[in-house]
Amino acid sequence: MNKKRVCGLTCIIVIAGLIISGVIIVNLNSAEIVRDVVINNPDGSTGTVFVVFRPGLTGFNEGVVNEFIRGLVDSDWRVEVTTSSSVTPTNVTGYDLIVLGSPTNGASPHASMLAYLTRVDFEGKPVVLILTSGGFGGAGLDLFRNATIDANGVVLSAMQFAIYEMDAGSRAYTAGTEVSLEP
Ligand SMILES: Cc1cc2nc3c(=O)[nH]c(=O)nc-3n(C[C@H](O)[C@H](O)[C@H](O)COP(=O)(O)O)c2cc1C
Repeated sequence: MNKKRVCGLTCIIVIAGLIISGVIIVNLNSAEIVRDVVINNPDGSTGTVFVVFRPGLTGFNEGVVNEFIRGLVDSDWRVEVTTSSSVTPTNVTGYDLIVLGSPTNGASPHASMLAYLTRVDFEGKPVVLILTSGGFGGAGLDLFRNATIDANGVVLSAMQFAIYEMDAGSRAYTAGTEVSLEP
């Protein structure tokens, strides 16, 4: 086989590989992820938190959200956790605080989170937003904030963590320990 043909064949294999990887990533990323509500620290005396998050492809969003939850539990909150999906509970009457965690996808929160925010009514309760990103994140945090306000939530704090930030976990843990509903 001559040099030209080898180069052409290599190019075709590389391009096909990229297209197949892209299709796999898009499909995995848009798949519905349903998890039961898990209760942490059931006897927590500070108050009850409802955490809804979208587990992503790298585990970064879940890791950051888990560190935030660890901070909440260390401050004696009862924490109920589930994923954003078509069956995420929309009755938030029993909760004192809502926490939403989502990766950035196309400069926006994940579609499953935005869909949840169109269904739920937060009844004026405080909401903490945790957005993770691969880079700058663009308008993602503003879109997250606006969709939460449209769902009748009061944004208590809105945090963003980029995947290359080495202190993301410790920052999230500290933020979890510092949550206060006092005015
Ligand atoms: C389909 C897709 C689109 C993404 N779009 C963006 C983006 O627009 N801006 C950005 O900063 N990161 C983007 N990212 C990176 C993710 O936000 C980042 O990897 C994620 O927050 C890491 O957490 P996770 O893997 O647990 O979801 C994108 C990732 C995927 C898979």
